[in-house]
Amino acid sequence: MKKKIVILPGDGIGQEVTAEGKKVLERVAELFGYQFEFDTALIGHQAIEATGDPLPPETLDKLRNCDAILFGAVGHPKYDNDPGAKVRPEQGLLKMRKELGLYANLRPIKLFDELLGASSIKPEILKGSDILFFRELTGDVYFGKRGRENDNQTAYDTMIYSRYEVERIAHKAFRAAQTRRKKVTSVDKANVLESSRLWREVVQEIGKQYPDVELEHQFVDAAAMKLIQNPKSFDVVVTGNLFGDILTDEASQIAGSMGMLASASVGDSVGLYEPIHGSAHDITGKGIANPLASILSAALLLDISFGAKTAADAVIAAVEQTLRDGYRTSDIADANTSKDKILNTSGMGQAVLDRLKH
Ligand code: IPM
Ligand code: MG
Repeated sequence: MKKKIVILPGDGIGQEVTAEGKKVLERVAELFGYQFEFDTALIGHQAIEATGDPLPPETLDKLRNCDAILFGAVGHPKYDNDPGAKVRPEQGLLKMRKELGLYANLRPIKLFDELLGASSIKPEILKGSDILFFRELTGDVYFGKRGRENDNQTAYDTMIYSRYEVERIAHKAFRAAQTRRKKVTSVDKANVLESSRLWREVVQEIGKQYPDVELEHQFVDAAAMKLIQNPKSFDVVVTGNLFGDILTDEASQIAGSMGMLASASVGDSVGLYEPIHGSAHDITGKGIANPLASILSAALLLDISFGAKTAADAVIAAVEQTLRDGYRTSDIADANTSKDKILNTSGMGQAVLDRLKH
C-alpha cells in the first residue's frame, strides 16, 4: 500500500498531539510494510500569522491531492474575546470541511473499561456504553446566511437544511446501524424548528428503506438528558451540525475524557481525521496533552480511508494495553493512579508505540 498523508497540526495542543499520531502511522508503515508519504500544511491561527489566510490555497491544494488527512485543532484565545475579528482560525476549519465535501462527521463514543473511574458519571451507568454519532458537518446554522442589521443592533444566523443533505447523512447512519445494534436515534428540535421538521420527515422516509433498523426520534433537549441518564440506550445517533457539536462534547464524558475521542469526517472524497478536543490553549506548551485521541484518529484513518482494519485494530489494542498497564495522562488519571504512571504527551505516545505489534 502506497499512500500520501497530509499532517495538519494547526493550533495549540494540535501540534503536540498530532506529532504522536504521526509517529504511530510511521510505526504502522514499518510493521505492516506500507509506504506512507507525509506532508504538512498550515491551517488556523498559525496560517493566519504566516499568510493572513486561515486556509491558504497551498494547503487546500495539498489536501485535494492526498489520500487522507490527520488534523489537530484550530483556535487561539486572542480571537475569543474579540468578536469583531474578521479573520478567525475556525474559518479555516469550516472552509476546509465545505471545500472537501466532508459532510459526515463520525464520532465514536466508546469507553475503555480501564477508564470507568475517570468519568464524572457513575461506572454502573457507563459500563458497556458504545455510541456512534453521525454529525452532519457542512450545513445548518454553521453555513446559513448570517449578518447584522439595524446599525449593529441586531444579528442573525440562519438554521437551514436541504433534503439532500439530510438524505445522505441519514443513509450513512442507517448503514452503520446495520453493522451494529440496529438502532438509529435521530435528534432534532422538530417541536419548534421548521428545519428540524424537514429533517425528521426525511429521516423517516429514508428509514423505510432500512426495515431491519429501529428508528426513534428525540428532541435535542431530551437527548442531552438521556445521554448521561442512560447512555446504553443509544446505538447510532444522527443529528445536525450544531446539535451534534454540543452533544458530542457532552458525550465525551461517557468516554472518560475529551482527550480520548477521535473523529472521522468523510464525504465526497478524501477523509479527515481529528481529535474532538480543541486547541486547549490553557495547557498548550506544557507537554501534558493526551495524545490518545490523535492516535485513535490515526486508527480511524487506517480503517476508513485505507481499509487497513488489522492495522487499525493493532493501534487500538496498543492503546488498550497501555491503559491496562496503568499508564495515564493527567486528564484521565484518577485517585488510584500512582504518580509514576502519569505520563506526558510524548511519554504516552511512546508507551503506545512500545505496545504496537503486527
Ligand atoms: C468541533 C469544533 C468546531 C465546530 C469549532 C472549532 C469550529 O468545536 O469540531 O466540534 O464547532 O465544529
Ligand atoms: Mg465542538
